[in-house]
Amino acid sequence: MDEPGSAEFDTIVAERTSALEGDVRIGGAKNSVLKLMAACLLAEGRHVLTNVPDISDVSLMCELLEAMGVTVTRADHRLVVDVPAELNTEAPYHLVERIRASIVVLGPLLGRFGTARVALPGGDDFGPRPIDMHLRALESLGATFSTAHGDISATAAVLRGTEVVLEYPSVGATENLLMAAVCAKGRTLIVNPAREPEIGDLIEFLNRMGAHVAWTGDRLAVDGVERLAPAGSGDGYAVIPDRIEAATFLAAVGMCGGSVFLRHAVAEHMAMLIRKLTDMGMHIVASEAGLRATATQRLISADVSTLPYPGLATDYMPFLVSMLTTASGVGIVTENIFTGRFRYIDELRRMGADIRTEGHHAVVRGAERLSGAPVRAHDIRAGAALVVAGLAAEGETEVAGADHIDRGYEDLAGKLAGLGAAISRR
Ligand code: UD1
Repeated sequence: MDEPGSAEFDTIVAERTSALEGDVRIGGAKNSVLKLMAACLLAEGRHVLTNVPDISDVSLMCELLEAMGVTVTRADHRLVVDVPAELNTEAPYHLVERIRASIVVLGPLLGRFGTARVALPGGDDFGPRPIDMHLRALESLGATFSTAHGDISATAAVLRGTEVVLEYPSVGATENLLMAAVCAKGRTLIVNPAREPEIGDLIEFLNRMGAHVAWTGDRLAVDGVERLAPAGSGDGYAVIPDRIEAATFLAAVGMCGGSVFLRHAVAEHMAMLIRKLTDMGMHIVASEAGLRATATQRLISADVSTLPYPGLATDYMPFLVSMLTTASGVGIVTENIFTGRFRYIDELRRMGADIRTEGHHAVVRGAERLSGAPVRAHDIRAGAALVVAGLAAEGETEVAGADHIDRGYEDLAGKLAGLGAAISRR
């Protein structure tokens, strides 16, 4: 029988929903777990990860690790990763092209084996995805690179710690550099590293493996060690909650109204978003157990600009645009991270949204109501943002390409239905 996630169930159908009520569990962070899985390559033995979301990007990352000779078992949000002494240090194109995060195997493979061959990632729906900063950072430690036949080959007889200045706080470059530096000789000082909560999770995981990574002010100091050991044996290492999944439910409450408890959402990981949504008229209260979000009135427009953490994340942007389409007033959205990330706006226009784009700016004039239409998801967050918009539109919104949404969400439609949304998977 076909399961949701197969081509047979490729569409999510959303209808206007007047209020959401209840409690939703926020799962483990996609943008963290994929990197922790790569970090497992650094040590032979059995690693156990818990709070692992049941999403298809995790399945693809499992396939990639298995292609390298790792054994992965997955059940009940728990991942057991058995890493052998020897690995195949190649990441083939047919897997890399399906999961962009796979580039982060470069750092750990270089760190542990001094060699790696990884297919070069192409562009995607956000535009080009360069890796020049990853390579420059690893070169500073002594790695050399060559490219042929679409693959990048890396070697390093020995990696030596040094001061590495990142010209931009790239998340991926920081991750690759960290995972190589933990095995380098001596100290690596990373100037201008990314500070996203998922970077904090990776540092915590590496330190549990025996690495020595510490913040010195706003820099990262990494003292290389000879050998790492698996973290999270026994109870396992719990992945941090997904702030982007939490943002998706905040947007849904903002657009539909109602009051929802987001269990496990961490307020301090999303302070800037909470402030912005409060400005827009939502009421959000944090507790140890999660966040309660309430919306009782039409949202008020605000200007939005994406920035590296602690600024507003680029992954929040599609949700904020959806919210602005029905808010009162005009909001200007500026996308500073991936300037080609406006493709889904054409889909929102099909739903009656009044949005004008100019370069990396979008001017969103709030309408009283959107009008349901057939639309297509081109990437994870854009797809989820269309689903959320569909809950505030008259009639039916059919979001095709729901397999994109499954890459980053565990049963988005089911969780929204649990809050009273008129939504189904077909
Ligand atoms: C980015 C987001 C991250 C998000 C992830 C998934 C930022 C800073 N990063 O991480 O929060 O979770 O997408 O959607 O918001 N760049 C280069 N050369 C490089 C690497 C990056 O020019 O070698 C540029 C990119 O084109 C982009 C910017 O730097 O404009 C940020 O990229 P980076 O943080 O590396 O992206 P991801 O790691 O994918």
